[in-house]
Formats: sequence, structure tokens, C-alpha cells
Amino acid sequence: MAVQSIPLPPPTSGGKAPRWTQPVSFYGQSVFSKYYAQAICVFLLLVPFLVMPVKAQGQAPVAGADCIPAGSFDANTDYFKNHTKVDSAALFSVDYKKSYKVLTTKSSVTAPQSSTYVLYQCGAPIPDAAQFPNNTVFMSIPVNTVGTLATTTLTYLEMLGKRSAVKVVDTEGLVTSPCVQASLAKGEIKGVEDKDQALRGQELNSVDVVFATFSADPLAANRTVLTFETADPGPLNRAEWLEFYSAFFNLEKDAQERTAKINNNYNCFKSAATAAKSPKPVVAWATFNAPSEYNNNTASWSLSNAAYKKALTEDAAATFFFPGNASLTTQSYADAGAFATALASVDILIDESVVGTDYANVLQNYKLTESSDLKFVKNKAVYREDGAVNPNDGRDWFSTAVAQADAVLQDIIRATHPDALPADTPYRWIRNVAKGEAKNIISDKNCTTPDSNTPIPDIALVCKDMKVDGRPSAATKSTAAAFSVILGLAAIALTL
Ligand SMILES: *[C@@H]1O[C@H](CO)[C@@H](O)[C@H](O)[C@H]1NC(C)=O
Ligand SMILES: *[C@@H]1O[C@H](CO)[C@@H](O)[C@H](O)[C@H]1NC(C)=O
Ligand SMILES: *[C@@H]1O[C@H](CO)[C@@H](O)[C@H](O)[C@H]1NC(C)=O
Ligand SMILES: *[C@@H]1O[C@H](CO)[C@@H](O)[C@H](O)[C@H]1NC(C)=O
Ligand SMILES: *[C@@H]1O[C@H](CO)[C@@H](O)[C@H](O)[C@H]1NC(C)=O
Repeated sequence: MAVQSIPLPPPTSGGKAPRWTQPVSFYGQSVFSKYYAQAICVFLLLVPFLVMPVKAQGQAPVAGADCIPAGSFDANTDYFKNHTKVDSAALFSVDYKKSYKVLTTKSSVTAPQSSTYVLYQCGAPIPDAAQFPNNTVFMSIPVNTVGTLATTTLTYLEMLGKRSAVKVVDTEGLVTSPCVQASLAKGEIKGVEDKDQALRGQELNSVDVVFATFSADPLAANRTVLTFETADPGPLNRAEWLEFYSAFFNLEKDAQERTAKINNNYNCFKSAATAAKSPKPVVAWATFNAPSEYNNNTASWSLSNAAYKKALTEDAAATFFFPGNASLTTQSYADAGAFATALASVDILIDESVVGTDYANVLQNYKLTESSDLKFVKNKAVYREDGAVNPNDGRDWFSTAVAQADAVLQDIIRATHPDALPADTPYRWIRNVAKGEAKNIISDKNCTTPDSNTPIPDIALVCKDMKVDGRPSAATKSTAAAFSVILGLAAIALTL
């Protein structure tokens, strides 16, 4: 399978390849819509039956955070009351047994690393290895200590209120989380040793689990869990990896609630964009690949066809521009002139290049000038993904933006249909360089959840509460209307 070129690390990242790996596999568009209306109807119809009291269970309950006390394991007890239901994500699944759960990741890039993880409640016997693939990783849960090799993981852990479990992190120079930066500064979290391999091995093996994306460190392979959130083909797929991480802490219930909120908020933004009065723009996601040792010192220009970018564009009520064969992940051009010609119909350009900071750099990279006839130049609609960066220019686009799909859609709508959002909606990641919008630097000073057991908040607006032009948004109105119809139908059904 073709792997896209990995962007060069920013010069300040200490020369490490950043782990903001591009999507490597496409599993087709998954269905995002969830049938809340149906669920509400079914629930209302079931109300008379739900009030029947459930017969109390005899055995002593074991809470998710506690171990099963020695000598009290009961093979017939179901130790996991809170199950995750995977709705959107395509690249993992969870199968619940009585005292263990089996997590499976699906990606062609795992071998020889395991893609099966057996998580057993602490105090329960380790399940018989013979029933699983050879390289299955067995882990006692809840895990208490965590190491991460990718910054993306940190957002999910912090959303679960588990920054307290994080002990060691790699690529620490790229961390955008303000509170992890603060913990690193205080020494509560350590950056993993890079040179001394013995020490590195010790550090990585000092934690219960090491999360990594795409490839494990061989020094800690037997406790590494490979995650594929950035390859899961859709914004809500990526967000749902919160449920994957939650399984290690028995926090499925919290994760389910959090992803349901994200999904609802996302779908509300989608409705708001669809109802916008402004015309539907054409959006291209473009990259200038500077000459380097990775590309034979030859510059090229390319367009991305990543599934999540297509979904975000379309859900922001815009037209996704990709002139190449739909099966390609990128369309490359060796000539800047040909590239510019191809972009004739594009209204909004999202520049994903690693290099370039201001508008002058961006125009230069695409060999354009401010007098260009291209629509996105005339419209001053040229955006970059570096609106939120750490002091080393590490991009939050590769961290918070992977997990908080609703906030990302809000950001894209700000570019495609600003009239669908309150007038003062700030940007987070996608800044308009043509209009001089600057990078926001996130440092340890920006930490607003110093308690490492407090889940970090969602940074998106609450779409259903937002007021556009001082009035409730169109999305709020249509949601309210749909809800009253449902209540009406349910009321009729109950009286029959
Ligand atoms: C179920 O989730 C709740 C809320 O997170 C938690 O308090 C409880 O311990 C969980 N139960 C189990 C058996 O994991
Ligand atoms: C897995 O185990 C089976 C049976 O023990 C063995 O035949 C096979 O070679 C093993 N495969 C690997 C990749 O180790
Ligand atoms: C995992 O690897 C480490 C270091 O290589 C080793 O010390 C440890 O015993 C291994 N653990 C298991 C369960 O194999
Ligand atoms: C790099 O350029 C040289 C000289 O033009 C060419 O022979 C070689 O095939 C190129 N390599 C790649 C990987 O494109
Ligand atoms: C971070 O804090 C600075 C002031 O210290 C502020 O100007 C900036 O807007 C904050 N950034 C974010 C993303 O909250």
C-alpha cells in the first residue's frame, strides 16, 4: 500500500520525524448519521417497561477502578458493566467477555506487531493464550501508568481525565497540550531519553502501556499498543478512538457520553452549514513539497484526497476539489504552472505545507503573486493548519484536531460559510494567512485544567446554543422542530 510522503520535521523539533503520519488506508466512507430520533422514540415507547425494578444481583460488585480481591474471582460474574459500542470507527473493535475484553485493531501496517490486545480485570486470571494469535499482548486493567510515542494520544488521555497516568512521552518538543507542557516543565512527566538506548528501554518499560501510532519502539514492543486514529477514514471515526483508549481504564461510559456529545455537536454544525445562505464554495487541500533528501531534491505540488478532509469539506457544505482518480490518496504535479491551472475553479485553498509562515511565503511556494487571477487569491481565502502551535511550532492540528471533530468542523465552516456561525467566532487551527491571521502560540501558561484527573473540555462552541446575528441558528431551529415532531409522534404512539 502506498504510504504518502512524511512531512519534514520543523527545524525546531530536534530533527525527529513528527508522528503526524498521513492516512495510509481507506476503508470507504462510513455512515456517520446516527438515528437519535429513532432511539428517542424507542426509548419513549419502552418507558412503561423500564420502570419494572430489576432484581438485585447477589454478588459483590467490582467497580471498574478496583481489582478483584484475592480469592473472590467468580468466573460467572460479568465484571464489565459499561460496554463501548463502536459506531463510526472502522479500524478497531472491542469484544467483551466476563472478566476480559479483546481489543482488535485493523490495519495492514501492524505486522509483525500485534493487533490483538487482551485486557483482563486486575485480579482475574490471565486468559489462556492458546485461543489468541501468537503475538497477542495481555494486559491487566485498569492501567495505572502510560507512556506515549505520539502527541495525538495525549488529547484522548486528557479528555478521559487521565493525564495523571502519563509518565513518559516521546516527541515532547511537539506537544501542544498546555497542561502536558506544564507537567513536562515541572518534571511530573518526562520526555523519553533519545540517545542512551538502555535508559530509553528502562523508561519505556517503567509504565504499564506505551501507546504508539503506526510503529512500535522495539525496546518496548511487548507493552506497546499501536493506534490508528489518524488513518480511520472520517472525522467522527477519528473522534471515536476515545472509546478505544477508554477501554484501558474502564472508562467506557465517560467515553461514550463524550463521543455522543461530539457527534451531536458535529451534526448540528453540519445542519447549520447546510442552511447557510452563502454560496457553496470549492475547497482544495494543497501541499507544496519543498525539495529535500526525501524527494530527490525535486519540488512538487499536490492535492490531498484523504477521506476525513473530504468529509469535513462536504459536511461544511462545500465542494471537495480532487481532480485525480478517486482511488488515489494524492494527486501530484511536477510543475507549479500546471498546478495553478488545475486550481482555476477553487474558491478556498487550505495550504497544508510544512514550510511557509506568512502569505508571502505561501504565494512564493505556489509560484503565485497577489495579482493572480485565481479565485482564492482574489477572494483572500488562503488558509493554513498552523493557527494553534506550541512554542516550537508543533501543530495542534495533529493533536486536539484529531479527537475533537466538532471543533474542526466549526473551524472549516468559518472558512466556507462564516454566516452560519456567530460573527466573532475565533479560529483555532485554520487561519487565513491572506487576511493576516496569526499563529496562536499555546504554551504551559495556557493550562486551564491543572488538576491532572480533570477531563479537558471540548473547545468547540455548543452549536445548539449559538446565536447567529443575535438569533438562534438555523440548525437549532430545525433540531428543535424535529424534536417536537418526535415528541408528538411518541405521544400519539403511547395513546394508541
Ligand atoms: C461504569 O462507569 C462508571 C462511570 O465511569 C464508573 O463509575 C463505574 O465504576 C463503571 N463500572 C464498571 C464495572 O466498570
Ligand atoms: C504461531 O504459533 C504457531 C503454533 O504455536 C506456530 O506454528 C507459528 O509458527 C507461530 N507463528 C509465529 C509468527 O510465531
Ligand atoms: C517485556 O520486555 C521487557 C524488556 O525487553 C522485559 O523486561 C519484560 O520481561 C517483558 N515482559 C514480558 C511480559 O514479556
Ligand atoms: C532521482 O533522480 C535521478 C536523476 O534524475 C534519477 O536517476 C533517479 O531515478 C531519481 N530517483 C527517484 C527516487 O526519483
Ligand atoms: C494562550 O495564552 C495567551 C496569553 O498568555 C493568549 O494570548 C492566547 O490566546 C492563549 N491561547 C489559547 C489557544 O488559549
